[in-house]
Amino acid sequence: MDINRLNKIRRDFVANVSHELKTPATSLQLLADSLVETLDDDPEQARVFASQLKSETGRLSRLITDLLDLARLESEEGVTNPKPVDVRSVLMVVLSRMRQTARHKDISLLWRRYGESALYTIEGDETQLTSMFTNLVDNAVKYTPPGGRIEVTGSSDGEEIEVRVADTGIGVPQEKLPRLFERFYRVDKARSKETGGTGLGLSIVRHVAENHGGRVTVESTPGEGSTFTVYLPCT
Ligand SMILES: Nc1ncnc2c1ncn2[C@@H]1O[C@H](COP(=O)(O)OP(=O)(O)OP(=O)(O)O)[C@@H](O)[C@H]1O
Ligand SMILES: [Mg+2]
Repeated sequence: MDINRLNKIRRDFVANVSHELKTPATSLQLLADSLVETLDDDPEQARVFASQLKSETGRLSRLITDLLDLARLESEEGVTNPKPVDVRSVLMVVLSRMRQTARHKDISLLWRRYGESALYTIEGDETQLTSMFTNLVDNAVKYTPPGGRIEVTGSSDGEEIEVRVADTGIGVPQEKLPRLFERFYRVDKARSKETGGTGLGLSIVRHVAENHGGRVTVESTPGEGSTFTVYLPCT
C-alpha cells in the first residue's frame, strides 16, 4: 500500500476516534453540570441525571476497551503466542454467557455441531476467539427483535472449522454489506446510539479471523435475517 494512502487512513482514523470520543465526553460534562445544579433542590431529578451519567460512563469505557482491543489486534501479525484452543468449548462459554440476555428478549439461542468434537482444535489465541464469537452473538441478539431465533452451527472436517451465526433479525441492505466490517461503520447511526453500539465489533471479528489465517463472510436479507460465517483453518 502506498504511503499517501496509509497516511490518509491514519488521519481518518484519528478523526473518527476523536469524533466518537467527543460525543460521550460532551454528554458526561452536561450531565455532571445538571447533577450539581439539581442536587439540593430536586433530588428526584438528580437521581435521574446520576443514572444517565452512569450509563454514559459505561458507553465511554466500552468504546475505549474496544479501541484498545482493536489497536492490539491490528499491531499483531497473526497470533503472537499460539496455543491449542478447543473452538467448540470457546463457543460453549460464549453461548452460556449470552443465554441470559437472549432469554430476556425472548430469543431462542440454539447450538448445533457437525463433526467429531476432536476436530475442533486449532492453534490460536483463546481470548481473541472468545471476543470474536461474543461480538457475533452479541450482534445477533442486538439486531433481532423479541421472539426471534439465533442458530449457531459448527462444522469441521479436520482441515477447516466453519462457524455460522444465523439470526432472524432486521438484516442489512445489500448495498451496505461491503462496508460492514469497517471500523465505526453502523448501518443506522441513530438506532445504534440507542443500543449503545460503537461500530467496532465487526472489525474486531474480521481481524481475529485473519490473525488466525481465516476469514469471515456475511449474507443478509432485510426483514428476514443475517448469517455470519467464520472459517478457521485447523493447522
Ligand atoms: N446480526 C446483525 N443483523 C443486522 N445488522 C447487523 C448485524 N450485525 C451487525 N449489524 C450491523 O452492522 C453494524 C456494525 O456492527 P458492529 O458490531 O461492528 O457495530 P455495533 O454492533 O453497532 O457496535 P459494537 O461496537 O458495540 O459492536 C451494526 O451497527 C449494525 O447496523
Ligand atoms: Mg456489535
